[in-house]
Amino acid sequence: MPDSSPSSRDADVLIIGGGAAGLSLALKVADRARVTILSKSSLEHGSTYYAQGGIAAVLDDEDSLESHVEDTLVAGDGLCDRRVVEYTVSRGRECINWLVSQGVKFTLEKADTAHYHLSKEGGHSHRRVVHAADATGRAVFEGLAAKVMDHPNITFRINTVAVDLITTAKLGLPGNRCVGAYVLNEVTGQVMVYRARFVILATGGASKAYLYTSNPDGASGDGIAMAWRAGCRIANMEFNQFHPTCLYHPKAKSFLITEALRGEGGQLKLPDGTRFMQDYDPRGELAPRDIVARAIDSEMKRLGCSFVYLDISHKPDDFILEHFPTIHEKCLEYGIDITREKIPVVPAAHYSCGGVMVDLNGKTDVENVYAIGETSCTGLHGANRMASNSLLECFVFAFAAAEEILARLDSVALHETIPTWDESKVTDSDEDVVIAHNWDEIRRFMWDYVGIVRTNKRLQRAQNRIDLLQQEIRWYYSRYRVSRNLLELRNLALVAELIIRSAMTRKESRGLHYTLDYPARLPEAKNTVLTPGNYMPGAGN
Ligand code: FAD
Ligand code: SIN
Repeated sequence: MPDSSPSSRDADVLIIGGGAAGLSLALKVADRARVTILSKSSLEHGSTYYAQGGIAAVLDDEDSLESHVEDTLVAGDGLCDRRVVEYTVSRGRECINWLVSQGVKFTLEKADTAHYHLSKEGGHSHRRVVHAADATGRAVFEGLAAKVMDHPNITFRINTVAVDLITTAKLGLPGNRCVGAYVLNEVTGQVMVYRARFVILATGGASKAYLYTSNPDGASGDGIAMAWRAGCRIANMEFNQFHPTCLYHPKAKSFLITEALRGEGGQLKLPDGTRFMQDYDPRGELAPRDIVARAIDSEMKRLGCSFVYLDISHKPDDFILEHFPTIHEKCLEYGIDITREKIPVVPAAHYSCGGVMVDLNGKTDVENVYAIGETSCTGLHGANRMASNSLLECFVFAFAAAEEILARLDSVALHETIPTWDESKVTDSDEDVVIAHNWDEIRRFMWDYVGIVRTNKRLQRAQNRIDLLQQEIRWYYSRYRVSRNLLELRNLALVAELIIRSAMTRKESRGLHYTLDYPARLPEAKNTVLTPGNYMPGAGN
């Protein structure tokens, strides 16, 4: 049944995702546009809330934009787009000033409260990370969410899961313009039409594709999967970043130990107390993340141990408590006093460097769809993201997309009639165990076969498994009523497939993609770009 009646679900700008990227774009357009933000579960369920280290920005007189650009290019191992890096880095100060104007409070220097305390992380040659102690994401999120809640033009809907974008191509009309999205209400179980002039994908990353991850549960790559199914190109999915130091404890689920702890002198040690990072890189503990994660993985395999240690206990107690209060408190919950003891750590999947291909304004291949934040691939991160460049990218591209949308607002109308969601051929599932089983299976083989060190054989094994799972998931999706778990599984399987295909395409080792079959770097750096339509079967279209 087509639906053309005006509804409370109509918006000028529909933002799928309420993290740093989605909230900032909303605040930038809301004075002139009606905005709806959708979020799965509760508000703080994106990665933003859990960000620790901070936001990279050149604020110190000793530092320079050129140096931030150079460091980003080096960390990205030859694959960053210099134009994008220069553009993003040049807007750092503006982002921090805007966040402060929205009420976000950053840690100040003790001795000189006119300046922010700047920390240092892997790959940075200067102290340039602005932070709120070790809980920067929470401070940013709470500041922006409070402003969003107060704004009369913004509607925030939680427990809403976007299922798919609605495009003119899917409706059998000319062109490929987005006119809205189908959205599941997790409480009622109904799928509703949301009409919009512009749709923004701000759904975060896809690290949940891996068994061990620093990310919250919703990081299932929904935006990347929806964009692919709508006809967008997806780039560089093989570059999934593994953060070197997540807490290793049977009861701790995905708790990160910030890189800033190494920036303040934290040392990586083997079980016998020996340091090892200097054997791998002259920058030691502050080498870029791909190098540190690989070094830890290699030592764990060499010694057959399940973790290594990160040690900050040589620093004074009050220094540790002042800089790392959240980590201190969390570790104490697990019986580890970081002022006295070493912290057991392991690498875990942390960040998707690849994603939906966009231009400098966050525009995708589908008309009126923008992708911002971790969902997107802007060219900033190349083959390996430098620490604390991600939040910066969220703000810079949210601002740019907002500027373009405001300029185009009056030229785009709401689409009149959109068919309602068709449930006539589906029933309630009687075997949800299939969903749980397939989730587990994907995450385990992705960890084992498409992890920190890859080989052709491992990737082929992963490919065989994902092909089978995709068939099963498609069968299941076409017969049963959708649930959040099923939608996430469908997206996760598609994203896993895109990661495997991209990894198989790259016949070299570069940045985060390391394969024993092609250990050298090729002379020319090229993006891996996958195009829907030109694609092989099994891609879940
Ligand atoms: P997110 O903050 O992940 O938000 C995604 C939103 O999309 C959520 O609201 C979610 O509910 C919603 N969503 C997803 N799918 C759907 C759907 N289908 N329907 C409706 N809603 C949906 N980066 C830094 O620069 N500095 C740091 O210090 C830092 N520390 C980090 C620490 C941790 C533990 C983690 C996990 C990441 C860290 N990162 C850091 C990375 C950074 O936090 C993220 O890349 C960034 O916050 C992503 O923001 P985002 O707005 O793109 O997405
Ligand atoms: C951290 O605090 O170590 C995470 C920083 C990041 O992912 O950019």
